[in-house]
Amino acid sequence: MNPLADGLRIEPTPGATTLVIFGASGDLTRRKLLPALHSLSRGQRLPARFSVIGIARSPLGDEGFRQQFLDSLREFAGLDAPDAVATSLADRMYCIQGELDDPALYRTLATKLTQIDGADGVLVYLAIPPSVYGTVIEQIGAAKLSGHATEQGWRRIIIEKPFGTDLASARELNQLVHRHFEERDVFRIDHYLGKETVQNLLVFRFANGMFEPIWNRRYIDHVQITAAETVGVERRASYYEGAGAARDMVQNHLMQLLALVAMEPPIAFTAESVRDRKLDALLSIQPLAVNGRVDAVVRAQYGDGWVSGQQVPAYRAEPGVAKDSTTETFVAMRVLLDSWRWAGVPFYLRTGKRLPKRTTEIAIQFKRPPLEVFKRVSPTPVASNLLVVNVQPDEGISLRFEAKLPDTRMQLAPAMMNFRYGTAFGGTVPEAYETLLLDAMLGDATLFARHDFVEASWALVTPVHEAWRDKAAAPVATYEAGEWGPKEADALMAQDGRRWRTL
Ligand code: BG6
Repeated sequence: MNPLADGLRIEPTPGATTLVIFGASGDLTRRKLLPALHSLSRGQRLPARFSVIGIARSPLGDEGFRQQFLDSLREFAGLDAPDAVATSLADRMYCIQGELDDPALYRTLATKLTQIDGADGVLVYLAIPPSVYGTVIEQIGAAKLSGHATEQGWRRIIIEKPFGTDLASARELNQLVHRHFEERDVFRIDHYLGKETVQNLLVFRFANGMFEPIWNRRYIDHVQITAAETVGVERRASYYEGAGAARDMVQNHLMQLLALVAMEPPIAFTAESVRDRKLDALLSIQPLAVNGRVDAVVRAQYGDGWVSGQQVPAYRAEPGVAKDSTTETFVAMRVLLDSWRWAGVPFYLRTGKRLPKRTTEIAIQFKRPPLEVFKRVSPTPVASNLLVVNVQPDEGISLRFEAKLPDTRMQLAPAMMNFRYGTAFGGTVPEAYETLLLDAMLGDATLFARHDFVEASWALVTPVHEAWRDKAAAPVATYEAGEWGPKEADALMAQDGRRWRTL
């Protein structure tokens, strides 16, 4: 094949970039961002002219920041001794100390950007608590370091979740951000979108001709989306107590997964088209709270119990958690979409901490065949087809179908066809943060949450929180740590004559 005739396939590499990380000594920076930069650099995906400026309240200094980078590679990337890539990257790391509300910090940053190589493009990363997002964005704007302010090069911002705590605060934050940055320069992170399997869902649906014709109410009975964790609240009570599972997991990650399953085909794999179609899907969801009642959402909190062979305390006994906390650590819900494609097909969502197994999956349950042709010869009833996208930890896709057992008699049994990323393609699956950092440097927002999606999602979840605050609302249920949620979640399914999948 002549590449000139066919068009060269170019691996996109970003232009000169400086990454400015607010929260340089924080957990996210050490655990995720610094290892992701190293991995990108090793794969030669970073621009030749690239620098990192960390912003910290502590007197870390350039040397301290560089050492922290090398330490984080040892701790979180298993790199015992720094390799050449790490050393070269460390040389291009700087740290500025300052208070986030002090204009002097931003003046120092502006001066630094004129001195270092790679500041044509500036990518600001807010790896700081949401309570200070506003302060930092205002200060960035005032120091003319934001999107509207420069003619040369680009200025972009990455904002971590949670993006607001309800519809009003998310709107307010969007307005504030838009005063200083164009929407195309705003990258709201939802790390689920960076996961390989989540991206593969788009490929699976829209790069294959055979699934789309059956991806609708005529063939699909229902969809189950599960994000189960074995961990408890860990050391995050100060955040989690005010959040709970609905804000922490449903409003963002689960709604994103649902939208990817439910969306219509985009006209192209572009940020606008993909995000337009996802928004449509979200907007078609029926309200979860009607007249202040939420009948199809179950919330629960874990009691003590056993997980992975270890005895674990109840949520209320965790450090930093109020003894009478009503924060939910589990949510299960039935979601209905008013769309031509999905009318009458329930999407069941569940997520929880301290469940028996860490697994995230999307299960598409197909309808049974219209006729039981083998009823007389095979004693077992025919199981319906099931397509499971394993998002993690065993990334892959499985299809369950009926097969004939090898025997002289006619007997049926379900069989599985499995695709596993690891065995099919080998190599290592990139971390979500690698993909997302690179995309933001390239200016590709396809895998980031757009302002209207975030607001539409809060518009669904906020009325649920309001209803839960009502004294007449059903109290938060409990489940034993190590169980698959409360009996109320099973009852929600039983009402529809269905069951949660056993995982
Ligand atoms: C985060 C939540 O966004 O996602 C955490 O704040 C949760 O509470 C985590 O544990 C789950 O992410 P992952 O990638 O482990 O599924």
